[in-house]
Amino acid sequence: MPLRRRIAVFLGIAFASLLIAGALRAQSPAPRAHDTADGLALTPPMGWYPWNEFGQEPQNEKLIKEIVDALVSSGLKEAGYAYVGPDEGICFFRDASGKLSPNLERYPGGLRGLGDYIHERGVKYALYTDAGTRTCSKAMPGTKDHEFEDMAAFAAWRADYLKVDWCNTEGQDVVKTYTKLHEALAAAGRPIVYSLCSWGVGKPWEWAASVGHLWRTTGDICEPGKADWERAMKVAAANEKLSEAAGPGHWNDPDMMIVGMDGLNEAQNRSFFSLWCMMAAPLMAGNDLRKMTPSTVRTLTNLEAIGIDQDPLGIQGHIVRRDGKAEIWSGKRLFDGSQAVLVFNRGATPARAQFAWPDVGIAESAAMYARNLWTHQTSGPHRGGISVVVGPSDVVLLRISKDDVFPVPPIIVASSYRVSLRAAGHAAQKLTGVLTVKNNGSEELPPWRVRPGLPSWLSVAVTKDGKSQTLTNTVSTAGLREGHYHAIVRADNTEPISSMPMSALYYDVDLEISRSPGGK
Ligand code: GLA
Repeated sequence: MPLRRRIAVFLGIAFASLLIAGALRAQSPAPRAHDTADGLALTPPMGWYPWNEFGQEPQNEKLIKEIVDALVSSGLKEAGYAYVGPDEGICFFRDASGKLSPNLERYPGGLRGLGDYIHERGVKYALYTDAGTRTCSKAMPGTKDHEFEDMAAFAAWRADYLKVDWCNTEGQDVVKTYTKLHEALAAAGRPIVYSLCSWGVGKPWEWAASVGHLWRTTGDICEPGKADWERAMKVAAANEKLSEAAGPGHWNDPDMMIVGMDGLNEAQNRSFFSLWCMMAAPLMAGNDLRKMTPSTVRTLTNLEAIGIDQDPLGIQGHIVRRDGKAEIWSGKRLFDGSQAVLVFNRGATPARAQFAWPDVGIAESAAMYARNLWTHQTSGPHRGGISVVVGPSDVVLLRISKDDVFPVPPIIVASSYRVSLRAAGHAAQKLTGVLTVKNNGSEELPPWRVRPGLPSWLSVAVTKDGKSQTLTNTVSTAGLREGHYHAIVRADNTEPISSMPMSALYYDVDLEISRSPGGK
């Protein structure tokens, strides 16, 4: 075990983060401009993106809306999947004045309209663009030389997440380009998760934590519609080596998932999902959510496994030992002091594998409980270590703890990310709009703290009812002119077991005032 990792295990992730930041700084003079102050993606983003299953066709408004509805009805939303939107789906073009305009043939409600549909269902809006002159298929304009106006357009469409591809970038410097886009995003004034997609070009794990929230570490995991297990395992192997670069607000991204696509069996789906959780990878589903088998739903919504991915310490696990065809993954200390351990059998026949406590950072003499996160059973106390039998291409995913208690970290689900209020006539009015925010993890959270600095027409009060909290938005139209008013509300919270800051909650409040008595 390298010295730096040993220090991290014993002194905790806060100290490890400092070391990592120091190492990153040593390789790049850029300061950590982005840091975690924006409160974005403090655990790996979860959601859905269309590319793996669909490619460019038939991406359109109808498909995205159907997927959003399926995300809600299948239970994925309740399991924390939040960011959804088109990938390279021919969403916009550049008009004669140089501005981005929505492609109304594919998105008849416009791109702001799609954003509203998504937000009103308690889902967050993801969009896609490219850092070069055109996107990969050349069907859409890239941002080169239009960085600031394009980022302003994405903000106006109310994107919460932006993936920026690296096609058609001949002659561009990768660090300078993505840094300029980061500055353009900051200037656009909307909190947006910034997903760099240079497929590992320019080694983003060495510098991109200062500008973005996640970066692709490899080429594409599959061709659209063709899940490829062997290729996925190569992607995992490459991503595994980069564990020290990941942490809250800055993640290695080994690409969207292929769980639930044709070509993978149940064990492979389970293994893929467990590997992505152990690597603290973004969990962007890539399958058709409208047509999932019960087994795919069970895999994608396994909260005990998701809890490993969404652990507030944000440590990326790695391989600590190989035992024949079996890999032992660990190095992932969790928020309650427990440890995640994954035994993955790469072979085609069942494998027996064992690990001793010191292999996974536990004192040799300790008596520990083991929670199997796929069978949902606890065994123990065990002494010395554990031996398991693992089926072909299958995993045993364990959580090892000194106590027989396995809390799930916060999994946040909102009723909506938009409050829309209308007032008509001349009399001053008070209007209210509520949204609820639930934690599907084990604990009650402290009350969300609304950031000060709201406009004078808006106030927000928080009330708590167990694991659910209500944010009541009260608007007063006194003294306001006819027109449209908009505010972005930010609320913050802290995970109660680890005291780690949680990703900020952001939502939009719209107020429309019309002076004609009936309004419009
Ligand atoms: C690249 C990306 C993919 C997808 C396509 C779209 O290949 O890596 O994830 O966005 O572009 O063309």
